[in-house]
Amino acid sequence: MTSLSSELLIDKTITFVKKELKNAEGGHDWFHIERVYKNAMHILKTEEANHLVVALGALLHDIADSKFHDGDETIGPKKATEFLISENVSSTTIQHIVQIIKNISFKGGNTTQKFHSKELDIVQDADRLDALGAIGIARTFNYGGFKNRTIYNPEIKPNATMSPEAYKASNAPTINHFYEKLLLLKDRMNTETGKRIAAERHVFMKTFLQQFYAEWEGKK
Ligand code: ADP
Ligand code: NI
Repeated sequence: MTSLSSELLIDKTITFVKKELKNAEGGHDWFHIERVYKNAMHILKTEEANHLVVALGALLHDIADSKFHDGDETIGPKKATEFLISENVSSTTIQHIVQIIKNISFKGGNTTQKFHSKELDIVQDADRLDALGAIGIARTFNYGGFKNRTIYNPEIKPNATMSPEAYKASNAPTINHFYEKLLLLKDRMNTETGKRIAAERHVFMKTFLQQFYAEWEGKK
C-alpha cells in the first residue's frame, strides 16, 4: 500500500521523467520507462520490497543513460538526486535509488555488480524483460537504426566475452546484440516472476532468429 504523499511523489516523478525524455531514442523513451514501471509493479506483487523505492527506481533508472551522454555515467545519478532532493525525499531513499541507477545496467555481462537489494533485483528484472520478446526485438533494431548499424553480417561474429569498455564501443551488426546480450538474459533473472516471463520471451526471440536466417538464405 502506498500513502497519499507517495502517490503524489510518484505522479510528480512521472511528469519529470516525461519531460526529461521528450527527445529520447525510441527504445529509451517515456514508453520504455512506463513498460518497466508496469513490469516492476507486476513483479512486486509476489515479492517483499519497498514500494516507493521500486517505483522511483523504475521511473528514474534511465533518466540520463550514459550511452546518450558521451559515456558519462554521473549525469543520471546527479539528475535523479537533484530532483529527489527538490521533493524532500529522505537521503536513505535517495541513496538507494542512486545505487539502482548505477547498478542496473548489463554492460556486456562481464562485470561484478557492486550493490545488491531486493528493490534493485525487481527493477533490473523489469528493465530486462523490456529487452526481451517482441518489444526487445523492436527496441534492438530501433537502436541499431539510430546508430546506423548493419542489420546482419555473417562475417562479423558475436562476442559474448567483451569487457564493459569493448561492449560500449562495439559497432557490431544488430543481430550480434542478440548473442551478446538478449539471449543471455533469461539465465540472469533475479525473481521467479521475472524468470518465468523471460523464458517465454526467450523462445519467441529464438523463433524470430530462425525465421530471419531462413529468409536470409532465401528459403521459400
Ligand atoms: P544495458 O546497459 O543494461 O545493456 P541498454 O540500455 O544498453 O541496457 O540496452 C537497452 C536496449 O537498447 C537493449 O536491450 C537493446 O534493445 C538496445 N541496445 C543497446 N545496445 C545495443 C546494441 N549495441 N545494438 C542493438 N541494440 C542495442
Ligand atoms: Ni532501461
